[in-house]
Amino acid sequence: MSNNCPIGIFDSGVGGLSVFSQLIKFLPNENYIYFGDTENLPYGNKTKEELVQISAKIFDFFKSKKVKAVVMACNTTSALTYDVLKNNYDFKIYPVVQNVAEQIAKEGHKNIGVFATQGTVNAHAYKTEIQKHNNGINVFEIACPEWVRIVENGLQEEEESINNIKLHLDEMLLYKPDKIILGCTHYPYLLNVLSKFIQPATFINPAQYFAQSIYEDLKNNNLLCSEEEKEHTFFVSKNPAQFAKASKLFYKVQEVKEISLQ
Ligand code: DGL
Repeated sequence: MSNNCPIGIFDSGVGGLSVFSQLIKFLPNENYIYFGDTENLPYGNKTKEELVQISAKIFDFFKSKKVKAVVMACNTTSALTYDVLKNNYDFKIYPVVQNVAEQIAKEGHKNIGVFATQGTVNAHAYKTEIQKHNNGINVFEIACPEWVRIVENGLQEEEESINNIKLHLDEMLLYKPDKIILGCTHYPYLLNVLSKFIQPATFINPAQYFAQSIYEDLKNNNLLCSEEEKEHTFFVSKNPAQFAKASKLFYKVQEVKEISLQ
């Protein structure tokens, strides 16, 4: 494996692009291969066993592409599959939840809210990881199962979507959080709507912390790419046109290839 090998990055759909858009700021000189598993979307209501199988296939795909690292730009698989698969590959694996929890825990907030998928909430991934670093922080987790579909279908501005978003936000505000983590990589696409009701600065988009920590780790391990030429390749397992359309907010994807990992 060499420094100039690509970085793999995956999610169930466009959510991971919220991470990708930060990664290219911190690491602009890298080759990236993005995989959006739109055929298996949503991940949030799948069992741990299903997600381990899915993640293993994606890691195998990246192995065949000779990547130097895989970025799990998906909270649900980070929460449910990272621990099972982390020792099975010889490239670096960066899971979003585990990578950002320490930095968030150090910021000194007392009450932290988390919006996430049902799978991430049921696993108490953020609560466990944050309290590992600071057990004086109260963490409240709320699942928003409809939000991924809203984002993938570009329905952010529909009245029904806004009502649903407001409903979950009102429930969260009862806990008086100092900060609210957008604990699913799809949710930063809803920041415009969320910001209609409360200060945008209340929200933490983990992508910024995540990209910085990946940059630092690659640098410390002498794994930064030294090539001038860089390539960004996008694959999805279904509906490339819809993926390209929904991606707009974070990264305008020009070309998307469809691929089956079965
Ligand atoms: N964007 C992913 C996450 O961060 C998965 C969402 C889903 O497919 O349910 O959890």
